[in-house]
Amino acid sequence: MVNITTKLVKKLQSAKFLLVLDRFYKATMLKISTKVIEVQNFLEIERQNNKSIGFVPTMGALHKGHLSLIRRSRSENDCTIASVFVNPTQFNDPSDFDKYPRTIQKDTEMLREAGCSILFLPSESEIYPDSALKSINFSPGPIAEVLEGAHRPGHFAGVAAVVKRLLDIVQPHRAYFGLKDYQQFLVIKKLQQFYQIPTQIIGCETLREQDGLAMSSRNSLLSALDRPKAVFLHQMLQKAFNQIMGGNIDFQSIINSILLDFEENGNFKLDYFDICSANSLQKVVNPEKEDLIICVAAFLGKVRLIDNLIIKR
Ligand code: PAJ
Repeated sequence: MVNITTKLVKKLQSAKFLLVLDRFYKATMLKISTKVIEVQNFLEIERQNNKSIGFVPTMGALHKGHLSLIRRSRSENDCTIASVFVNPTQFNDPSDFDKYPRTIQKDTEMLREAGCSILFLPSESEIYPDSALKSINFSPGPIAEVLEGAHRPGHFAGVAAVVKRLLDIVQPHRAYFGLKDYQQFLVIKKLQQFYQIPTQIIGCETLREQDGLAMSSRNSLLSALDRPKAVFLHQMLQKAFNQIMGGNIDFQSIINSILLDFEENGNFKLDYFDICSANSLQKVVNPEKEDLIICVAAFLGKVRLIDNLIIKR
């Protein structure tokens, strides 16, 4: 009898069994809703039970980078909600919106597996029941006028409006954003301060593929021939990073030599390669003391990729 009991306890404690149990538990957890009112009702129960709420807004076509945000939220909150909404107002190019990857079934399974509690999957009319909600009276100022802002007119106005709407709906304690979209992160932080939104905005490290390419939903649009070429972006960021860390503060000469590398490489249509102050995204005033960001945006074929590296001083 003792022997059987010990065996049973051992089996129950075995890592494999616990993993199966954990998977089963998670699989039964994910609530999916397309309706604002329903999501708010779910969340109200969490709040009444004094549970903290973490929020990860996405446009779907999920990858491990998105899942790292879910993981971070799970580690810091009792309940994690993710949204998948491909927001039309932040696409300055309608064909980019049309071809944006949509893989909702796979996304749902990934979120279930990752232990997300709620998936909010709204339609456009649910997010914008009135077209007045598509724009808000908020101007992020100079941080939104450079880099992405200069190349994608209207993009940040669309991002700010949808994030404001999502935060109004979800009212999370914490919301998680990737530093891969560093300028977006700064705009959202400014939005939070401007409206005094009682949500902590948290920036999360960029997850990369093994070769260094930043994970992105858009990577799935790269042809098999282009995919290995994409790593060049990270290599150029790394080259600038190494030079700065080695003491070179002549940023213009670093940029010029990298522009030549891009020309020689010939595979990309470059939008920008720049080294800026990480706080203001403007020209660096104090190169040895300021936090810096090296950023790049370029087309590889028809796919537009962005990436950055941050240098903390
Ligand atoms: P999306 O591109 O789906 O990204 C959702 C979140 O995942 C963003 O905060 C983004 O910065 C983060 N992310 C993307 N790639 C990442 C990576 N490799 N490592 C870590 N985090 C990564 O960004 C948007 O959607 C939208 O603009 C949105 C904020 C949802 C508003 O529509």
